[in-house]
Amino acid sequence: MVTDINIVNLTKITKFNMFSKIGVVGSGAMGTGIAQVASMAGCEVLLYDISSDNLQKAKSNLHSALTKLLDKGKIDATILNAVLGRVLFTDNLSAFGECELVIEAIVENLDVKKSLFANLEAIVPVTCIIASNTSSLSITAMASSLKNPNRFVGIHFFNPAPLMQLVEVVPALQTENSLITDLKKNIESWGKIVVEAKDSPGFIVNKVARPYYGEAIRIMEEGIASPQAIDHAMTTIGGFKMGPFTLMDFIGLDVNYAVTQSVWQSFFYDARYKPSFSQKRLVEAGYLGKKTSKGFYDYNDMLPAFIPNEEDEAQMHYVFNRILCMLINEAADTVQVGICSEQDVELAMKYGTNYPKGLLAWAEELGYEEIIYTLDNLYDRYHEERYRVSPYLRDRVSLQ
Ligand code: NAI
Repeated sequence: MVTDINIVNLTKITKFNMFSKIGVVGSGAMGTGIAQVASMAGCEVLLYDISSDNLQKAKSNLHSALTKLLDKGKIDATILNAVLGRVLFTDNLSAFGECELVIEAIVENLDVKKSLFANLEAIVPVTCIIASNTSSLSITAMASSLKNPNRFVGIHFFNPAPLMQLVEVVPALQTENSLITDLKKNIESWGKIVVEAKDSPGFIVNKVARPYYGEAIRIMEEGIASPQAIDHAMTTIGGFKMGPFTLMDFIGLDVNYAVTQSVWQSFFYDARYKPSFSQKRLVEAGYLGKKTSKGFYDYNDMLPAFIPNEEDEAQMHYVFNRILCMLINEAADTVQVGICSEQDVELAMKYGTNYPKGLLAWAEELGYEEIIYTLDNLYDRYHEERYRVSPYLRDRVSLQ
């Protein structure tokens, strides 16, 4: 518990046009990716990890990521050397004494993170912004481990950080407002598309995307369509890059299930995010998707190509419409409850998950009445809260 809260004047922080020296804590997949992004943007980066083995691995991973860019002609040897030269790998946190920004990307455990922040605060300058890359923990809870919680913020990159364009900036309840505008500009100057989200479970992307998985599983469980038919519907009719089952297998069913469970619990067990037994059982069996050669699909066998017949075609339109309407409803409600702006929910889903269109733009195309009709029918059929229509959509009809 922090007792002597000392609110520092943040005017010095907000003056930065560009961070020149940043620290990254945790040299796993995310930390190394973030270090690459910042170094490529010209920052000096200190990359720290408690494990020297992992630091070694990070060094070689960064080298091979940059070599790939060199081989593809995206950078030349001078840039490669300069980018590598700007990243200093260290097992000594005291080296962070001059950092202007520190981004934490360690294990997803609130107590471990809080103890790191308390240590870090004693090392970094009082004007240093301290950030977490967490996907699921409360930014506000983490901020409370600091004496100066007003300089704490969530900066959520997506995996792989050098390739995924989106970054969600998430102020804690305690964060000094004036810090956010410049912070966003700085991260944009790293070549990223930055959206702002309220500190809420799953932020924008991991919340709005839940129905893509959950509704697909529900449709499969009820025997309305097979995983292959559902995947086919979403990719061919909707233009999604991967169908929900292929995507869950790709992400890893353990990871995908854990995110769903965390969002569901954190929203006080809202039925909209309820996890499914089908997925839980697969996880219990160790069928985790591609990485174990078996998940919703069996990767040991060649899957026969899916060729829909006339009946499938009719069902596929229903499947696509049902999943899309649930996604639109989630995006609409995220705006309705003030988690983010309309513009940011559109950017987030296009650049954080590569959806073919913004969901609100899709709603305009489909027509609000059509979406409400689909959702109200589902609600009448199941009498489940999961299918409640967001007032945002009903308001749009009355505005027309
Ligand atoms: P990872 O497991 O690949 O790497 C974590 C690293 O942190 C390891 O090298 C470990 O040695 C180090 N570490 C653990 N405790 C430490 C401590 N007390 N001090 C210093 N280093 C410590 O994890 P990954 O996937 O890179 O994730 C890191 C964070 O980023 C987590 O908070 C995760 O939720 C978040 N995140 C992960 C994404 C993903 O797709 N993997 C996407 C977006 C956010």
